[in-house]
Amino acid sequence: MSEDGTNTKSRILDLFVGIDETELDSIEQWICSKQYKQDLEKKKAIIKSDKMLLKIGSVIKKMVPFDGEMPSEKIIHPTVGDQADCNRINTCHIDEFLYDAEQVEDLVKEGKLTRHYCLECNSRNVKELTFITHSMSRELLQYVFKVLLPKDLEDKQFLDVGSRFGGVLYAAYYFTNATSIVGIEMNKECCEIQEKIIGQFSMDPNRIKIVHADVADKEDLIRNSDVFLMSVLDFFVTTEEHRNLWYYFKKHLRKGSYIVLNRSIADTLSGLDIFEEFIDWLSICKPCQMENEIFFDVEDCNELFLYTVN
Ligand SMILES: C[S@@+](CC[C@H](N)C(=O)[O-])C[C@H]1O[C@@H](n2cnc3c(N)ncnc32)[C@H](O)[C@@H]1O
Repeated sequence: MSEDGTNTKSRILDLFVGIDETELDSIEQWICSKQYKQDLEKKKAIIKSDKMLLKIGSVIKKMVPFDGEMPSEKIIHPTVGDQADCNRINTCHIDEFLYDAEQVEDLVKEGKLTRHYCLECNSRNVKELTFITHSMSRELLQYVFKVLLPKDLEDKQFLDVGSRFGGVLYAAYYFTNATSIVGIEMNKECCEIQEKIIGQFSMDPNRIKIVHADVADKEDLIRNSDVFLMSVLDFFVTTEEHRNLWYYFKKHLRKGSYIVLNRSIADTLSGLDIFEEFIDWLSICKPCQMENEIFFDVEDCNELFLYTVN
């Protein structure tokens, strides 16, 4: 590191030299503006909160098996939809909240994780494994709360349907002003982990709480919530249970509620053969905090969708 910033200037020049004139003009204007200072401060704040999530992830890693699936869980490989080809041989689960892309790369280098499986023993005839995750990555979670959803969630109840190790809830806790943050989870071991983290990190129990139940038995919780995150449930429910859950959500979600999904509603429901019945139920929304897109690699986040209930 040089005190006069020579190294940094050199890196900036390397970057700028590849940019076309028009884009360079707009970057120069931005650096000279007040907005740039504000953006820099916002970025610092995001990094600070991200460190908190990273710290929580490192504590959870010590509480769960390396493959991120609890002994009491019954994983059901999907038979319909875009993950129907996933089976125990060709699929590897690595929890993206606990291990980001860089950490996965390190695990591969250290030989603790492999990206391939052998089609015939002792041969070079290998195939890439399909990597799946049961949790959203820190990066996607920040995009959900800093770009996709409205900025002001005061007086709102946020509900994560199937909260697992709680990553979504902790991100909601540190990145939003939501008054109430609730996770519902059917697996007891996962609930215990979430309770421990909430206690260990001294989170306000009046603001964040875990409900150990099947979401299908908690109509009141659904009716009283305003903002929902529903990650793909493919590996946890049968096709029939999955269909029933969507009929149940359609019946109980209030008009105007927000829903974040990590697969489009069309793809989710077409896979279950029920899309026609839901065609007018939701409207897709633009991200509510577009000004913050600058802090994220937006292309990595294009599998996230925001809807409102009509
Ligand atoms: C894909 S994980 C999602 C974790 C977290 N929401 C995220 O996006 O990072 C789905 C979780 O939902 C839970 N789950 C599935 N069906 C459920 C149900 N009917 N009621 C409550 N939890 C459920 C599973 O046990 C699992 O932990």
